[in-house]
Amino acid sequence: MHAASHPNGEPRADVAVVGGGIVGLMIAWELVRSDRTVRVIDPDPAGGASYAAAGMLAAVSELHYQEDALLALMLESAQLWPGLLDSLPEGTRDTGYRTAQTLVLGLDAADKRALTDLRAAQARHGLEVEPLSVREARRIEPMLSPSLSCAFHVAADHQVDPRRVCRQLIAAIGSRGGSLVRASAVALLRAEPGENARVTGVALDDGSGVLAGEVIVANGLGASGLGGLLAPLESALRPVHGDILRLRVPDRLRPLLTATVRGVVRGHPVYLVPRDDGTLVVGATSREDGLSGVAAGGVYQLLRDAQALAPAVAELELVEVTARARPGTRDNAPLLGRMRDTDGESIAGLVVATGFYRHGVLLSPVAADLCRRVVDGESPSSLDAFHPDRFSQAKSKEPV
Ligand code: GLY
Repeated sequence: MHAASHPNGEPRADVAVVGGGIVGLMIAWELVRSDRTVRVIDPDPAGGASYAAAGMLAAVSELHYQEDALLALMLESAQLWPGLLDSLPEGTRDTGYRTAQTLVLGLDAADKRALTDLRAAQARHGLEVEPLSVREARRIEPMLSPSLSCAFHVAADHQVDPRRVCRQLIAAIGSRGGSLVRASAVALLRAEPGENARVTGVALDDGSGVLAGEVIVANGLGASGLGGLLAPLESALRPVHGDILRLRVPDRLRPLLTATVRGVVRGHPVYLVPRDDGTLVVGATSREDGLSGVAAGGVYQLLRDAQALAPAVAELELVEVTARARPGTRDNAPLLGRMRDTDGESIAGLVVATGFYRHGVLLSPVAADLCRRVVDGESPSSLDAFHPDRFSQAKSKEPV
């Protein structure tokens, strides 16, 4: 561990990353690789939204209307994934990365119309999506239902296993001298005195602290609870809960699927992600009902819709049900970049990387790259659309 001790006894690092989910860990890995001392602060590393995530790297199939800046970021990050995986040291490369194709399926006529419209939007962005007949889709995946209304093929979307990626990142960060602090951040520390004083570290719930030249706040929804300079994030972030299932495919049914299957079933989105260990991840609901545990109706909906696409899902063993909250924002895009004060001035020592909503896994390499560039003193123009304070700045500039 490179983190040196400060005269007042607090450990000191070049960078403190608050949050050890896939985004925080990816940022920490990028920064230890640029020869910084890094401490990652999290009471339960990789136990939040990353623990639930299916891990689809789905820039093309997750396109939504009016999210052009986000699409560019997603496409850039999708390109960064292979290099990122190559950067991991020998012995930490078991990440479940698969370049298997994606099939997008609709069940009824309305689902077909929705997916046909989506394909038109994808085409306008130059994204390749190939229509298939249902027969062709079933030739690729014989376990699919014959009662589908439409099928499309997406070659560009891939997948990782986020739990494995996080495990490997923790090992990789440790191998380069980075360290994990198992505690919760409760407040930012600031140099005294003065309103414009830089952020100098993080206070922890055990009464200790971590001093750092830069603090990167990457703890998802937790970022809105740190108050002070981060108070604007309170109204910018909201929990969007998701239920997600893990099922085991019995030997006699393997492989149930080889491609990632994304469907719209009577208007409900569902995805089925086969893992190379013989399990199948089925997700995910999107709920804003405040229920943090698993919703019974969510499990029902996922199993019903997954079975509509692949009837043999009914014969699998249900091995896990998980619910976590995604950190949602008003425009579905992340809060990313150096934090600014109410006058719009950059706050020295404070960078934010949260609000990744449905795209935390896909966007983690580009978030890491951009955070490293910000820490290097750059102001990448690709961050212009993602200022962490963009909602509160826009409001404070409204005429009164
Ligand atoms: N990215 C998939 C989800 O949030 O469910």
